[in-house]
Amino acid sequence: MCGIFAIVTKEEQALGPILIEAGHRLSYRGYDTVGVATIPQAGEIDLRKDAGMVQEVADRYNFAEMRGDRAILQLRWATFGAPSQPNSQPHLDSDGGMVGAHNGNVVNNVELRQEFMAEGMVVRSENDGESCVHAVERYASQGHNMLEAMRLAYHDLEGDYAYVIGKTGEDRLYAIKKGSGLVAGIMPDATCIASDLPSILPLTRNIVRLEDGEIIIFWADGFEIRKVEDGSLVEREPELVEDTMEAVQKGGYAHFMLKEVHEQAKVAGELIHLLDKSPDVMPFLKRLKEARNIYFIACGTSYHAGLLGSIYLGRLTGHPSIPVLAPQFIAQYSSAIGPEDVGIFISQSGETKDVLSAMSVAQAQGMGVLGVVNVVGSTLMRESEYHIPLTCGYEISVPATKTFSNQVVTFLYLALRMAGHDTSLLNNLPSWIEQTIAAVESQISAIEKHVTPWNDLYCLGYGLTYPIALEGALKFKEITYAHCEGMLSTEFKHGPLSAVTEGYPIIFVAGPEDVPLIISGINEVTCRGGRAIVIGEEDARLHANAQDLIVIPTIDAPAELRPYIDALLSVIPLQLLSYQSSLARGYDPDFPRNLSKTLTVD
Ligand code: G6P
Repeated sequence: MCGIFAIVTKEEQALGPILIEAGHRLSYRGYDTVGVATIPQAGEIDLRKDAGMVQEVADRYNFAEMRGDRAILQLRWATFGAPSQPNSQPHLDSDGGMVGAHNGNVVNNVELRQEFMAEGMVVRSENDGESCVHAVERYASQGHNMLEAMRLAYHDLEGDYAYVIGKTGEDRLYAIKKGSGLVAGIMPDATCIASDLPSILPLTRNIVRLEDGEIIIFWADGFEIRKVEDGSLVEREPELVEDTMEAVQKGGYAHFMLKEVHEQAKVAGELIHLLDKSPDVMPFLKRLKEARNIYFIACGTSYHAGLLGSIYLGRLTGHPSIPVLAPQFIAQYSSAIGPEDVGIFISQSGETKDVLSAMSVAQAQGMGVLGVVNVVGSTLMRESEYHIPLTCGYEISVPATKTFSNQVVTFLYLALRMAGHDTSLLNNLPSWIEQTIAAVESQISAIEKHVTPWNDLYCLGYGLTYPIALEGALKFKEITYAHCEGMLSTEFKHGPLSAVTEGYPIIFVAGPEDVPLIISGINEVTCRGGRAIVIGEEDARLHANAQDLIVIPTIDAPAELRPYIDALLSVIPLQLLSYQSSLARGYDPDFPRNLSKTLTVD
């Protein structure tokens, strides 16, 4: 996701090297364009920006020579507008006297740009960061000071974001936080802000954390925090951060995997905001509606999301579709596909060779190629006709978690839209995900001890929870090194039942509509000594039949849609149980042996 950094120093100095270093530190978040601006008190703003990697753009535009006492850097991860020079940030206002950059999404960007143009402002890009600058310009040009202009602009800018802005003729910068991260660093003769702590820590450990709805005004040897709501002053003393850099990057979590599990709520919220406004959703839906056959094509975790997407689509729209592993797509369907068909190619990395090979075959046959992808600028993103970005930011841990849930959210959203349902229900997802994490975390440790001694186990689901069982089993395989097979619960009696001995663990994922069927499966294994560990909503029948029930919250959603969301929430206990079991076995869940996050080989 995007990152911003800005600094005000006491004396004019070479700021280029400081900005380049900050750019390198922010780059772990993922980005596709880089830009910097220095803001003199007199004279013109020096703005240099383009698509590319930090060092490459810095060399091309000679960032190193840039001097000044105020500067802004931005790394952009494209959502609104292609990764191009005009869409790179920072952005100028109409007359070039003000410059700003943001992180996050301004979801009413398209409407705002039209308003700004109608009001006579000079709009130079399609990017939503520019809307932040013009929203402030709109009020500053009416005579409001910067603080007042930002407070007024706050009501115009919808979405989750943080931005920093400054103007010539002053000695200070201004930044606001609404949903995206923002931290300030206090030094003896400089003050800086950034999207995250790791990009500030090499400069100072003297930190001020901003909260949503706050504006920080900062100059070389001071700062002031004001509430957006009423402009009142907020008293906050800097705190000293003593954690190591690695601990800070993990945001206080023991592993990236745990951090990314917890980030699922936030990234789901950001994605839903984006999907509501993204210009690519309508043509994406049109291609699906008009298709003869729809294929969901992916590998690994992404395939499991596609499988659930195919069930969502079939059940909600009545449109059958074909979920298939990418290499099997080539083997099975290459002579069956044509221009009337559409493939949804799903990939966190956008670089998995198996998926790209399937895409080449599809393109050669004239089939429509749609992408659902996390890494911006990846081959899949560039080569698909339309794409939906997963907006998860960097997923560092090898086992995919937040990208899986956002893939599922994407498919649920598309299926609901295709079926003509209201999608506003999904605005509750961040809260439901948070509630589920909080509810299951405390239940997992009691269950983990029944799983960890076994190097062989099963994870079973049915209907909507079948793909979840496959995904849960994959998590176990990836990070506990145990053999865990995911399977349709009704298939277990057709063979695997012979493996059951005393205490043998079988995890069941019980969707609310399938409890009676799951109970039959539970009894088939418990009467042979097996241990049934069930994931489901609070249900006396499940308590009565299983040894263990990991209870997920019963959410307040319409009865006919609850099972769809319940399926997504049920993956969380499986992520956390496999994580705990991995730790109990002494492994590093972030970097399991033999595996790679991105597989660019056949
Ligand atoms: C590798 C990773 C898996 C991932 C799969 C597909 O095998 O280890 O975690 O699910 O590739 O990756 P993609 O980037 O295409 O989603």
